[in-house]
Amino acid sequence: MSEERLKNEKPIELISMPQKGDAMRLVQITEKTWVINGVTMTAVYKIDAHNCILLDSGHYRDCMEIDRLLEESGLTVRAVLSTHAHHDHFGNCRHFAKKFGLPVILPLGEAWACSSAEAYCLYLGLRSSFRARSGSLAVCIGPVDQTIAFDQPTITVAGETFDVLHTRGHTYDNVSFRTPDGVLVVGDLLSTGDALKKLRAPYTTVISQDIASKQRIAREPCTACVMAHRGWARPEELPALAEANIAVYESMIDTVRQLIRDPMCIDDIIPLFCKARNIYGPTALHGMEMRHVVGAILGYLLDRHEIRSDTERGLTHFIPCDPDDPAIANDGLFEGKEMRGRE
Ligand SMILES: [Fe+2]
Repeated sequence: MSEERLKNEKPIELISMPQKGDAMRLVQITEKTWVINGVTMTAVYKIDAHNCILLDSGHYRDCMEIDRLLEESGLTVRAVLSTHAHHDHFGNCRHFAKKFGLPVILPLGEAWACSSAEAYCLYLGLRSSFRARSGSLAVCIGPVDQTIAFDQPTITVAGETFDVLHTRGHTYDNVSFRTPDGVLVVGDLLSTGDALKKLRAPYTTVISQDIASKQRIAREPCTACVMAHRGWARPEELPALAEANIAVYESMIDTVRQLIRDPMCIDDIIPLFCKARNIYGPTALHGMEMRHVVGAILGYLLDRHEIRSDTERGLTHFIPCDPDDPAIANDGLFEGKEMRGRE
């Protein structure tokens, strides 16, 4: 979409953002883009007074209420686009696809995640498919009719063309969309308001990629930006908001950086990280999620040569190191012992 055209698109002046717990309703953002304030924000692009396209379909718990709201508004869903396959974004896609006879569409990497309970469990960084087979996550698993390719720049559905921005990092292949009237729908790439204040851990798969995507989205022309958790920003607010999101992540990374003073394994780090970030929840599944979260931070620090790993008798310890030490840079942390052992 051209910047010239975007200049002519004006966001509606918002009186107030619905708060968590407020009755679910359709709230106008621009002339054609509205949002539904469920557990997560669902963007609704109105093709006309009777037809719409959903951008993310909301948390599975909101399914009936979103359905009722669209029905009361006289809106027929003509397509559903999803930023990624997490259940609070993709959870109702299959419901609306079935109800309106629509294809299930996902980015290619996200479609792979939904191909089986085992794949979905790996996608979440879990080692047990129990949770993926039951309850809220099970609604995500199943066939996908159409995929968005890794470098696909646009997608046309129901006669409307949306820009596809490949903003990976939160998951393997999460995307953002820009509506024909210039609204960026970014899923979990950015958070705002209370959701950002209360963020306790980086629920992200590849942190370096995610930070680069946050920096990239801040430069994208738009008329407004809708964040699933939870709200929207005007274009002039976007750079500062992206910076604030990155600062929160940096603070979490720094928590782990400060913890590793001596050689520590991930099971030493997790409880200390949880204590430092006020994360409580002692269940085994929560523990596995924390391995995913802390593992992502450790991967980030390893990539930046701020720590190194040493594995002995099956136990990997993480050790602080000086990234400027030429011996570390030249040694190659990953091509080290194991690769040499195979020669
Ligand atoms: Fe997500």
